[in-house]
Amino acid sequence: MTVPKFSLTDNTDDAVATSKAEVIIVGTVRGADNAQLAEGAAGVNAAFDGRLLAALTTLGATGKAEELIKVPTMGRLTAGAVYAVGLGKLGDGGLDPEQVRRASGVAARALAGTKRALNTLSVLDLQAAVEGSALGAYSFTEYKSEPGDAPVAKVDVLAPTEGTAKAHRATLKAATAIAESVLIARSLINTPPNDLFPASFAERAEELAKANGLDIEVLDEKALKRGGYGGILGVGSGSSRKPRLVRLRYQGSKPVKKVALVGKGITFDTGGISLKPAASMDKMTSDMSGAAAVLATVVLAAKLKYPLDITTYLPLAENMPSATAYRPGDVLRLYGGKTVEVLNTDAEGRLVLADAIVRACEDEPDYLIDTATLTGAQAIALGNRTPGVMGTDEFRDRVAGIAKRTGEGGWAMPLPEELRADLDSKLADLANVTNHRWGGMLAAALFLREFVAEGTPWAHVDIAGPSYNSDSPWGYTGKGGTGVPVRTLAAVLADIAENG
Ligand code: BES
Ligand code: MN
Ligand code: ZN
Repeated sequence: MTVPKFSLTDNTDDAVATSKAEVIIVGTVRGADNAQLAEGAAGVNAAFDGRLLAALTTLGATGKAEELIKVPTMGRLTAGAVYAVGLGKLGDGGLDPEQVRRASGVAARALAGTKRALNTLSVLDLQAAVEGSALGAYSFTEYKSEPGDAPVAKVDVLAPTEGTAKAHRATLKAATAIAESVLIARSLINTPPNDLFPASFAERAEELAKANGLDIEVLDEKALKRGGYGGILGVGSGSSRKPRLVRLRYQGSKPVKKVALVGKGITFDTGGISLKPAASMDKMTSDMSGAAAVLATVVLAAKLKYPLDITTYLPLAENMPSATAYRPGDVLRLYGGKTVEVLNTDAEGRLVLADAIVRACEDEPDYLIDTATLTGAQAIALGNRTPGVMGTDEFRDRVAGIAKRTGEGGWAMPLPEELRADLDSKLADLANVTNHRWGGMLAAALFLREFVAEGTPWAHVDIAGPSYNSDSPWGYTGKGGTGVPVRTLAAVLADIAENG
């Protein structure tokens, strides 16, 4: 997972004029009825004799988000071109870091084929500019015989005027590590299910654990049987690729708190015997996005040395229909002993998560977060860019607030008590679905709640829509896996490390 090589450039008067970059990136802001130059554009503007904005306006610049206008420098700078990228309108609190992140991403996508660029948006927000550039530059070409234009190799970033060089270097290092982890998740998601199945996913986790000094334990099918993990085994029973439960542990020094992370890892979800329709079933290659995010996050925690004790669980299974598959009507005995009547084999995520959540609670975490591509209802309710956040009231609100601030988005959703009774089963302790479609995201979360140890602050992040982009690229998000909610999980961990 390579990100461009970033270097800090001193913000001197001639930094832009002497830059060896091929392209200089400047920002434009949307004003009342015209575009304005963002801070950082002064050097380019000077080389254009103060007429950069006039040139951009002639070319139709408005400063709106996602706008990109290319201007040749005609020898005024060593660089051949200026890319002016729209940041959008200023909010009440000024520029939001996410505006810088997205604009940098738009520019980075347009830089494919360029070797070296200078991004001046970093003077607005260094971390956001680096993250946006790194995420926007990403493309997954592992399976292409001819990969096409290479992502931009080097990105110089102008140092912000405030703060010390040492602080800037630390920011750059953290932003690079964060972006790298998002890309670890994206690449796992983008790896097709014939190559990424429970055992091969577990192997990748082992490689990452080794490289980052994490403890890892992988339960294979036999161990899962011995342990009584009926959810993971039931869901995985239809596949020739046997399920796994991966446990990773990062122990920071002088840990402030114990945090457990659980991520749904269905390496492909056909729906099982309750088969999904063929149209867009291929999207279910992303049904392990939760596990990918959790794995990428614990790797990041180790790299950034968070003072936390973190255990993560990745329940991995492939949901297939076959002669050995679990059936609608089966009763599974989950880890910890609760029984579940399976009324729909396509509601498989909650079954593997329930096993993992019960196991995670045995570690007695101070906080528990799970994330999953759990319900189509999430995307119906909140669209493709806003995860639904449920759980215990206080922690849910904390996670949703942080999610919003990272720019990944997240919205607190309720757990209406009246829906809980709809999960009652005549036969078992619980049914895995209700007999209606209303509040599907909330019903799934209520199911999970049954498995969270009493009193544990818990947040459940449903990322069915936001984990995967089937639409056009936008901001720093290309097609395919997005890596959501890695940055949110990282920010929650950082917040817990700081505030307990
Ligand atoms: N993996 C799906 C949810 C999903 C749907 C993710 C669309 C991404 C995009 C999940 O396993 C599922 O099939 N959920 C069912 C639950 C239903 C049977 C109660 C759903 O949402 O339809
Ligand atoms: Mn399903
Ligand atoms: Zn699924």
